[in-house]
Amino acid sequence: MNNWDEIDTYVREWLEEAREKILASFSTSIEIETKSDRNDLVTNIDKEIEQFFIQHIKNKFPDHHILGEEGLGEKIDCTNGMLWIVDPIDGTVNFVHQQRNFMISIGIYENGVGKLGYIYDVIHKELYHAVHGEGAYFNDVPIPKLTDAAIENAIVGLNPTWVVENRKIDPKKLSKLVKDVRAIRCYGSAALEIAYVATGRLDAYITMRLSPWDFAAGKVIIEEVGGIMTDIKGEPLKILENSPVFVSKPSLHETILNKYLKEGSL
Ligand code: IPD
Ligand code: CA
Ligand code: CA
Ligand code: CA
Repeated sequence: MNNWDEIDTYVREWLEEAREKILASFSTSIEIETKSDRNDLVTNIDKEIEQFFIQHIKNKFPDHHILGEEGLGEKIDCTNGMLWIVDPIDGTVNFVHQQRNFMISIGIYENGVGKLGYIYDVIHKELYHAVHGEGAYFNDVPIPKLTDAAIENAIVGLNPTWVVENRKIDPKKLSKLVKDVRAIRCYGSAALEIAYVATGRLDAYITMRLSPWDFAAGKVIIEEVGGIMTDIKGEPLKILENSPVFVSKPSLHETILNKYLKEGSL
């Protein structure tokens, strides 16, 4: 039996310590490398923060498993037991170029069920978190359940990369969506964008390829406020698989899915 309060206390302690390390890094010279392409950046700080969490988790919870973006955790191919899914810096490009608009994202799953989710806005010192079955909180104040928004009043987070030719969705469908909604936003951190949907700052967020560490924490948070997170066909996400992600207020989810994303919706 896991003691969720104990885990919560440690996570908060570690998030604060990680925050201090990240802030301190701004006055050092950061080492930047590229990964899959010239715009896919990783820094020594991403790696150091991931290592920091792994060491602490392993020390306090030696039987828990850890999946981290920078690959310093384990190779995970099943969801049995306790699994921490860690993105040490979500929004590395923002971290490098802007020193803001990036998050630490930690989802904690038990046998494949999301139990705790933490998205920490390091710069604003703002914590979005959720406890499965108990609710979601912004700086420890309960986040109200999401109410619906009409498409014409909606602000939608959308990664502009996907408005150009791609293999997953006809850009004409997204162009129509862009025209019909009130406004489009792109913040460059999936965790931030999901947290924004959870708190009603965005009404929906659509992106075409996320990894487990980008959405693991957000999924726990959004589901606690009655939001819906699926792939762009409306199918449930698999927690260990990369996927397009569509997260939204409940009835807006159905509207966007049927009117803009589904086959034959043009
Ligand atoms: C990225 C950000 C970005 C999303 C990318 C992610 P990273 O995460 O969340 O908003 O569009 O797909 O890979 O690499 O900065 O942790
Ligand atoms: Ca990355
Ligand atoms: Ca990420
Ligand atoms: Ca990252």
